Amino acid sequence: MKYEFTPEMKSLKGAELLDQRDPLSKFRQDFNFPKTVNGEDQLYFAGHSLGLMPKKAKDYINEELQAWAELGVEGHFHAKNPWMPYHENITASFARLVGAKESEVVAMNTLTVNLHLLMVSFYRPTPKKFKILIENNTFPSDKYGVDSQARFHGFNAKEAVVELKPRPGEITVREEDLLAQIETLGDSLALVILGNCNYLSGQCFPFERITKLAQAKGAKVGFNLAHGAGNLLLKLHDWNVDFAVWCSYKYLNSGPGGLAGAFIHENHLNKKDIQRFEGWWGCNKESRFKMGPDFEPLPTAEAWQLSNPPIFQLASLRASMDLFDRATMEKLVEKRNHLTSFLEWKLKSELGAFTEIVTPAERGAMLCVKVKKDPKHLLEVLKSRSVILDFRYPDILRMTPAPLYNSFADVHRLIEVMKEALHDNSARPA
Ligand SMILES: Cc1ncc(COP(=O)(O)O)c(C=O)c1O
Repeated sequence: MKYEFTPEMKSLKGAELLDQRDPLSKFRQDFNFPKTVNGEDQLYFAGHSLGLMPKKAKDYINEELQAWAELGVEGHFHAKNPWMPYHENITASFARLVGAKESEVVAMNTLTVNLHLLMVSFYRPTPKKFKILIENNTFPSDKYGVDSQARFHGFNAKEAVVELKPRPGEITVREEDLLAQIETLGDSLALVILGNCNYLSGQCFPFERITKLAQAKGAKVGFNLAHGAGNLLLKLHDWNVDFAVWCSYKYLNSGPGGLAGAFIHENHLNKKDIQRFEGWWGCNKESRFKMGPDFEPLPTAEAWQLSNPPIFQLASLRASMDLFDRATMEKLVEKRNHLTSFLEWKLKSELGAFTEIVTPAERGAMLCVKVKKDPKHLLEVLKSRSVILDFRYPDILRMTPAPLYNSFADVHRLIEVMKEALHDNSARPA
């Protein structure tokens, strides 16, 4: 959707007017913003890295600390929110978040662990069908994950793992090239794993088209939604995606090292022939405490759980998911489009000579911006003015206006600081 931005919206007043019209603006007050030395809110644009702390997270964690103090082991059954089924408090919210049935999602472990666990189930290579397709600029952990899985199955990772590359001189992969690569790999393709959005460029690939084409070749399709969950409107069930994993400390604000999520399509649930690494928390809830030697898998995604989960991490995740449930992904995506388009418009109209947006139109909230004049000086100024975003050497800034807590006025202030730095004549060309 195209947004109309008028010259009056270039002022702080104009941005504040957009905030007044924003039905989600009230959610900002539910978060703790780190403060500047003057006690003001920092300009926080790093929600793609670590989301801000929901104020309620403290209460939710304290509630469980209190239950532990008062009840000890009995908290598993008699805490206000008993710990035994505590992870189930997240299930409905995760299902809404990724467009899944409740049986298809589970909160467990951390992202890379879940990626490995699901590759154990969905990367079942044979001598003829063993290739894994990934992006060439994938997050290192994902690359280590697929390489080590290929080696684990006795393949040479350099042969098994195929990296999608942009055309020479281009920064992002063209959709047609991605689809053509799947065609070319054909029957040799065992698995496609893509970061959606890509963590470095912000590019978002078309879930459904990729899934359909790769599955037609007999391959499985998994998405790493580290930068997609809480950022994109997802319909994983309807798109027939085989599996997905995501972390919850970025857009989902669950705190450092927060618990991850996993989606397994119901096509693969309750199947006797599926390979899986097993642990007692994946075992039938009725018989689990009989401590028998045989694994009876749960009929849901919970069958992939290994251990009893960390309750304090789940508690902070609950605090954030409450906010997502109240805001709804549909409304968040509407605001995301508006807010990120506002940032795009301001970058182009006020800083077009000094910056270039490298994120394509298919994107979420994050914009990656190439800085054409003295990135080092810009970074120093941003830092001195308590602007939090991140920098990728040599010249890319990644900035995310998170729709749950960022405002149009934040975007205005960010651009003002950037203007000050980039118009400074002592700054040098990049
Ligand atoms: C795309 C992507 N994959 C994997 C990871 C690794 O996540 P974890 O440390 O939770 O396993 C990250 C973390 O930032 C990420 O952004």
